Amino acid sequence: MLNDNPGVNGAVNGQPGEAALKFTAADKNAAKERYAKVYTIVSGKGGVGKTTICANLGMALSLLGKKVLLIDGDIGLKNLDVIMGLEEYSVYDIAACAAGKVKFASAAIQDPRVSSLFVISASQSLDKSHLTPKQMGLFCHELMKDFDYILIDSPSGIENGFACAIAPATHALIVVTPEHASIRNADRIAGLMEANGILPKNISVIINKIEAHLIADSIAVDPDDIQKALALPVTAQIPFDYDVIASNFKKRPVVLNGRSLAAKIFVNIARTIDGEKVDPVIVKKMGIFDRFFNIFSR
Ligand SMILES: Nc1ncnc2c1ncn2[C@@H]1O[C@H](COP(=O)(O)OP(=O)(O)OP(=O)(O)O)[C@@H](O)[C@H]1O
Ligand SMILES: [Mg+2]
Repeated sequence: MLNDNPGVNGAVNGQPGEAALKFTAADKNAAKERYAKVYTIVSGKGGVGKTTICANLGMALSLLGKKVLLIDGDIGLKNLDVIMGLEEYSVYDIAACAAGKVKFASAAIQDPRVSSLFVISASQSLDKSHLTPKQMGLFCHELMKDFDYILIDSPSGIENGFACAIAPATHALIVVTPEHASIRNADRIAGLMEANGILPKNISVIINKIEAHLIADSIAVDPDDIQKALALPVTAQIPFDYDVIASNFKKRPVVLNGRSLAAKIFVNIARTIDGEKVDPVIVKKMGIFDRFFNIFSR
């Protein structure tokens, strides 16, 4: 049973104790009886593409007809609504909402482009300690019956913001780029996901910002080697893509640009997590002639 009064359970000297702050594996199991799958999008290293993936995957799932809630878990930075082009609608934040100070209906921004997509932004002014994992867990738990998917954009690192972003998660997408530091951090993050009650079968990897010419020059890790090193299923490979940068700059998710390869890949990821069998797009490796041409075109 969930404790609906987190301020009381485990309190020591008037301060909430650890039991009050944690959303436990037992809470998570109770949550599984609800409907929504709750994905947290995580990485150890910053700047790998979590917010971009959260925005585009959310948009792609809602374009498939799913009811989706995106939550910006990056308290203090607030990027998701900006990438989505929704910041002008953003009034209330997840910390106020999860603390019960603001009603969900007031804080959730309904995307004017796709009516089944909702976003709750983060605050730029609050620090990360304003939200607790328990609050976040209970908040998402209550909403699970109303959505098909809840996607949480985690901050990088493994501090309180990260703990809040993984507390309610039933699934994790670990974003990794083809660099040694990113891969090593991803391995550690995968361990933390399991320690927080996410089943190993629900943990997978997205390899982002793949550049074939760097792999050919042996200055980026080959996606096959990343998969071997992490020993986790790879849901998708995403190339470093000019269209992604342009779309983020224009505050319009790239998935709305149907001609781009990245858009196709995001639709593929949405289909895959929604249970369809989809042929993965493998980012093309450079053949001997491409490499020869690449060297002489520098
Ligand atoms: N596939 C891609 N191709 C090219 N650029 C990309 C790709 N994915 C993300 N980017 C760019 O990388 C930068 C970081 O992306 P994003 O903000 O999504 O990362 P993040 O992991 O959320 O960062 P943070 O850890 O700071 O929250 C942005 O400038 C974004 O446009
Ligand atoms: Mg981010």
